[in-house]
Amino acid sequence: MKNLIFILILTFTSCASKDDDPVEEPIINITYTTNIKSIIDSKCNSCHSDPQKNGAPIALVTLENVKDAVLNKDLIGRVEDGSMPPEGDVLTSDQIELIKDWEKNSFK
Ligand code: HEC
Repeated sequence: MKNLIFILILTFTSCASKDDDPVEEPIINITYTTNIKSIIDSKCNSCHSDPQKNGAPIALVTLENVKDAVLNKDLIGRVEDGSMPPEGDVLTSDQIELIKDWEKNSFK
């Protein structure tokens, strides 16, 4: 009897999830202005300002700056390995996910 209930629950949950979109869609409403700028402002712009401070090689103050750094300067790799920011709090996994979702959303 316990097995039967287990199977029923499994059947129910797998059907239920089919009603949801089975393809993992990117979160389409992530935008630079709404989600990304505040993360960069609080955790990166003490150095990556314009003009840059503390030896930072690039500015991260506009959408184009940050997009270019994701595409060409391994920004996501640098926040994932914790080498950026070099001091202060590293990004939370939620913040890193937001940056990845923004990339999936074609840097809107
Ligand atoms: C305390 C100052 C400081 C902070 C804060 C800081 N950086 Fe940096 N960043 C640097 C310096 C200095 C370098 C150059 C040395 C290096 O690559 O490690 C650098 C390099 C980089 C590079 C590589 C640039 C290139 O031309 O190769 C990226 C990408 C980057 N930072 C992203 C970030 C992001 C994103 C944040 C915020 C989450 C951040 N940094 C916070 C100082 C900082």
